[in-house]
Order: sequence, then C-alpha cells, then structure tokens
Amino acid sequence: MKGIILHGGHGTRLRPLTHTGPKQLLPIANKPMSQYCVETLVNAGIIDIAFIIGGIGSDKVKDHYGNGEEFGAKFTYIKQDSPKGIAHAISLCEDFVNDEKFVVFLGDNIIQRKINEYVLDFKKSNASASLLLCEVDNPSQFGIAEIENNKIIKITEKPKNPSTNLAVTGIYFLTPYIFEVIEKLKPSWRDELEIADALQILVEEEKEIIYGMITDFWKDTGTPNDIIEANKIILENMPESFQGIKEENVIIKGKIIVGKGTTIKNGVKILGPTIIGKNCIIEGNTTIGGNTSIGGNSHLDGCNISDSIIMSNCTIKGKLNIQNSIIASNSKITKEENENLKKFLLGEGTQISL
Ligand code: TTP
Repeated sequence: MKGIILHGGHGTRLRPLTHTGPKQLLPIANKPMSQYCVETLVNAGIIDIAFIIGGIGSDKVKDHYGNGEEFGAKFTYIKQDSPKGIAHAISLCEDFVNDEKFVVFLGDNIIQRKINEYVLDFKKSNASASLLLCEVDNPSQFGIAEIENNKIIKITEKPKNPSTNLAVTGIYFLTPYIFEVIEKLKPSWRDELEIADALQILVEEEKEIIYGMITDFWKDTGTPNDIIEANKIILENMPESFQGIKEENVIIKGKIIVGKGTTIKNGVKILGPTIIGKNCIIEGNTTIGGNTSIGGNSHLDGCNISDSIIMSNCTIKGKLNIQNSIIASNSKITKEENENLKKFLLGEGTQISL
C-alpha cells in the first residue's frame, strides 16, 4: 500500500503564518505537523509516500523531508500547480499509485492513534474506500457521514441540518478506481474538485465504503486556535525529558520537555505541559506554560507565556504577558522598562491585540 500526504492548499485562515511556507510545516510541540502523518504511515508499514506540494515555500517540504531515508521511507514529490482541490491533488498521483491501494493524509490533520488495523482491514476488504470518522460538536462545519449496517450510505459536505455528528476526517483509504471517479467531477462553487463529491459518487454507484471510528483525538488544524489546541493535546501525551541545564531556584510544575544545550536560569518558573527546544536561554524570572512550545535557539527574558507556540530563534524580552499566541521563527518582541512608546515592524496580515 502507498501513502500520499497533501501539502498544498491556500492556507488563508492561517495567514500571515502561511505567507512564508505551507501550513503543514508549522510546528506542533516543536515538530512540523505533517511529520505526525509521516510517522503514522511509516509505523503502519507504508513507506512509499508521495508529498503533494504547491504554493509559497513548497520547497521547504523537500528541504525538511529529503528522500525519506531518515524516516525509513522513500519520498516522492509531486507538484500541484494551483490549489484546485483535494480530489485534484489526489488525481495527480495516478502514476505514483499505479495499481495499489493507498492512504491519503491531509497534512494538517493530526491523530494520535495508530492506523495499522485500518490498513490491514482495508487491504483485506473489497471496499472501494475506507474512511475514519470522528464525532464532533459542530457537524455543520465538516463533511458528515450517514451509516447503515456498518456501511457509509451518504456523505454531505458541511450540511446546514446535519443528520449525524460523524465527521469524515482527512485520512482516506482508497483504490485506484477513485481516479476514474475524479475524472467525472465538475469543479464546485469554490472552483475545487471536492473529495466529498468523489466519495458521494462511490456511494451512488453502490460501492462499498467501510469506516473506522476515531474515539480519542483528531484535529483539523485549519485555524490558529486549532493549532494551539492541537499543541496542548500533543504536549499532554508526550513523555517527560530534561536534557538541558537547570540553575538553582527554578520552579518546575507538571511535565516538561527540555532540549540539549538549553539553560533555565535562576528565578524561572515552568508549568507543564511545556516543551522547550535546544539551545535556548530562559532567564529573568520568566514564567512559561502550560500548553506551550518554545522552538530551539530562543531567548526569553522576564516574560510570561502560556498556551502558545513560539517558533525557533525568537527573542522575547521584558514584562510581557503572552497567551494564546503563535509567533513565527526569527521574531523579536521586546519591552523596555518604563517605556510606553510602541514600535512595530510588521509583515502583511499580522495580527496584534494589545
Ligand atoms: P483546506 O484546509 O480545506 O484548505 P486550504 O489549505 O486551502 O486552507 P484555507 O481554507 O485556510 O484557505 O485543505 C485541506 C488540506 O488539503 C490541507 O492540508 C491542504 C490540502 N490541499 C491540497 O493539498 N491541495 C488543494 O488544492 C487543496 C484545496 C487543499
């Protein structure tokens, strides 16, 4: 079985973070979010994986993942010239897939469980597709499945009056027959070839669609709040580890993960779950956490940060309270004592609330 991980899309809801690279590389607990998809596939024995790339900074995907050797896998890169939809992205993989069954992962969908049993079930079955469903509180925002006798009998994209709360997650088990179906699709109102329409055709042709239930955790990280929420859940489930240097008079409560070469200086307080990458300096009575990720080579001095993602090479200095925030790499935020003047150098689409 082969794997496909989608790294295209517009990423409009995550601007300005997506002005410099694909959202699927944004870090969750200091790891690009699509790396969780890679690990899940490799863990299930799926090591021949294609990445669909496109849009701003798409070369960063290749730079990060390389040829796959490091992950015990073989990676192929397929360019999508513009974001014409998930089904369009899948259609580009026909030669790559050849005549095998395959799994598609949306690179911004995160789950915590293994998919090994679904892979085995789908390999054995005669089904044309297998979907992973998850109960949600707000079904009108998702593709929703209806079930009868353990088979999916209807899929509706973002229904106004949903008949179930079973969202179709971004992990699709498919056969090469889907390429014939995608050929028949017409672009939707948003000018995309929709995967939900392709699946609905399978339903109408009375093809068998089986499913598995995700009962623990699934997150489609389309918005900043989704990313902050996913960061929290992933951190809660990570094993503790401390490889840094801790001076005296440091308070640590809860589970923390600290990378090599990081120094936590006198007077600092860290509340778990929190991850701090390699080679950071944390000083000046800084308080970090919980639910916070600090990327490598960052310098925090005197600030208070919680429920946030601070990426690598950032400097945050001064009496600042930062919450529910995502701060991209190489950012610098400083506040001088008794200084009321505010000075900004902001990129397009920046959001600030003071
Ligand atoms: P979405 O999150 O639905 O769309 P988007 O990435 O365009 O984001 P936004 O709505 O904020 O503008 O896409 C779901 C996943 O599919 C995501 O991982 C990106 C990927 N994708 C592609 O690879 N190619 C595409 O043409 C589209 C539309 C999405």
